[in-house]
Amino acid sequence: MSLLKIENMWVSYGNIRALKGINLVVNEGEVVSLIGANGAGKTTTLQAISGLLPIADGKVYFKDADITNEKSFKRTRMGIAQVPEGRRVFKGLSVEDNLTLGSISTDESEESDKAEMKKIYELFPVLEERKAQKAGTLSGGEQQMLAMGRALMTRPEVLLLDEPSMGLSPLFVDVIFDTIKYLKSEGRTILLVEQNANLALDVADRGYVLETGKIVKEGLASDLKTDPDVKAAYLGV
Ligand SMILES: Nc1ncnc2c1ncn2[C@@H]1O[C@H](COP(=O)(O)OP(=O)(O)OP(=O)(O)O)[C@@H](O)[C@H]1O
Ligand SMILES: [Mg+2]
Repeated sequence: MSLLKIENMWVSYGNIRALKGINLVVNEGEVVSLIGANGAGKTTTLQAISGLLPIADGKVYFKDADITNEKSFKRTRMGIAQVPEGRRVFKGLSVEDNLTLGSISTDESEESDKAEMKKIYELFPVLEERKAQKAGTLSGGEQQMLAMGRALMTRPEVLLLDEPSMGLSPLFVDVIFDTIKYLKSEGRTILLVEQNANLALDVADRGYVLETGKIVKEGLASDLKTDPDVKAAYLGV
């Protein structure tokens, strides 16, 4: 079953056309990578899916239901969670409070929230060590873990990750991609936006290539990795 389906989606900022009729599908249990250069429209795509940006034309479906006109908080409730570019944790709040905020949009019981938080601490032990610390004092990599943890607290059915490895040291890049692999092994569904196309295609089942607001290529990640155009433009070979 497709969890997410985007049909002919157009998004503009004033008279700048950022997305020009894109089509994209994410099936249950898949990791799908969306790759593209700076300004291609990757963040715009995720923002439009999570309802943070209005779309000019097209449709967004979640589990075959048309959610094009649903508000952002409703989409979160339905199970769409975005981890934004630049993490955007609440810097003045503690690590644990940041996680708790993720669960506010759900109807889960306190016990269930506690159990979920325990799982997140198992996934990212450093967050438990620092649970009382203000989020703004965490390193970039730790803030990325916290942003992912907060999204997991919303009990998502699909996770939208926007450049999770951006600006991180190689060690943290590894941690983040290991986490994505782990989440995939749990059967989770992920739409991953990355400029690090090599890593993004390594972890993904399928991928899409976005160029100035249009999908120019799509396919199995393994095929994209060996595609001469993709290699030349995005894989640094
Ligand atoms: N708030 C905005 N106002 C006007 N134009 C915008 C705005 N946000 C994005 N754009 C433009 O829309 C296009 C797509 O931007 P977007 O942020 O989606 O790209 P991106 O692929 O995420 O890039 P990056 O890799 O740098 O994060 C760009 O041309 C950008 O300049
Ligand atoms: Mg972006």
